[in-house]
Amino acid sequence: MLLLGAIASSGCSLAPRHDPASARYDTSPAFTSAHPTFLSTVQDYFDMEPPADPKQPIAFTHKVHLAHGMQCTDCHAGVEKGPQASLPSVKLCMQCHQVIDPTNPQIKKVAAYYNKGEEIPWQRVYWFYPSAHVWFWHAPHIHNGISCATCHGDMTQQTTAVRYTTFTMGVCLNCHRQHHAPVDCTTCHN
Ligand code: HEC
Ligand code: HEC
Ligand code: HEC
Ligand code: HEC
Ligand code: HEC
Repeated sequence: MLLLGAIASSGCSLAPRHDPASARYDTSPAFTSAHPTFLSTVQDYFDMEPPADPKQPIAFTHKVHLAHGMQCTDCHAGVEKGPQASLPSVKLCMQCHQVIDPTNPQIKKVAAYYNKGEEIPWQRVYWFYPSAHVWFWHAPHIHNGISCATCHGDMTQQTTAVRYTTFTMGVCLNCHRQHHAPVDCTTCHN
């Protein structure tokens, strides 16, 4: 898997949804980077619960890529560093798929986004209601040895991601109490 070396250097292009500097308060139902699709904007506006397994634009599969030895951080490069795990840019997909399986109809769709200079419009699987002003930060969880699977389930058995945990306040608080992690309101709300 020599190609993996190139991955670390490629950027992640989806705008952060809970950027500590700018987007922590995401109260507007406007069509912004926090609402990558019109549908999610409408869902926010009407406080609708989005599906736990949204229909994705590409039949991506975690199972196949993980079986080929890829690591979470190859595609979710931010997860050990800061708040966002981040999603991979289509440029990363094409570093492999220029040559791997280019005649597969799904890969042709990936290539079409790439050739138009567009990112793949992935639907969000995990998110918070903007009105709750929740601030989640991946890095301290990873550094405390909490595995991805604890919160996201076994990805080797998932194609596109499915929502494994519904993050109510109780879910966060229970674990914080068990681990003697901070529980004051400003830990998670801003
Ligand atoms: C303690 C629970 C927890 C752990 C452990 C965890 N996550 Fe998450 N993850 C979340 C929550 C909560 C969200 C939603 C965050 C939001 O919407 O701001 C999320 C969102 C994501 C997203 C969506 C994109 C993004 O940047 O928010 C990806 C991808 C992701 N996690 C990957 C991972 C990977 C890879 C690991 C392990 C290295 C991991 N997560 C470990 C709770 C967790
Ligand atoms: C490090 C190389 C690599 C990267 C990066 C990569 N893939 Fe793949 N992908 C593979 C390999 C290897 C296969 C398996 C091909 C086979 O078995 O014929 C595959 C298979 C696929 C398939 C076909 C799955 C099936 O059901 O057979 C799709 C669709 C796909 N990748 C989409 C993507 C997308 C979208 C991205 C970017 C988010 C991506 N890939 C990034 C290596 C990669
Ligand atoms: C080849 C690249 C690739 C690898 C490797 C990969 N992912 Fe993903 N991941 C994606 C893509 C593309 C999406 C967006 C499509 C989807 O939701 O499945 C995604 C979505 C997710 C989401 C849902 C994000 C959201 O919208 O909230 C989670 C959680 C996640 N991945 C966790 C993991 C974990 C944990 C691992 C390692 C065990 C992993 N991923 C490995 C490419 C990858
Ligand atoms: C499976 C257990 C677990 C779950 C679930 C969990 N956390 Fe944590 N969280 C921890 C641990 C452990 C730490 C690290 C505490 C430390 O470094 O002392 C932490 C740290 C944090 C921090 C950094 C606190 C600081 O000031 O250092 C934030 C923010 C946070 N969690 C928010 C959340 C939110 C929001 C949720 C729910 C969406 C959540 N956590 C769910 C275990 C968990
Ligand atoms: C460990 C993280 C964590 C801590 C600590 C925490 N909360 Fe929460 N809180 C959450 C999460 C996650 C949600 C649910 C967000 C969602 O459903 O999208 C939530 C939801 C809420 C809501 C509902 C908001 C809405 O519009 O739905 C209120 C009010 C609230 N919290 C107040 C508090 C107060 C007051 C404290 C301190 C006593 C506190 N929280 C401490 C994580 C936390």
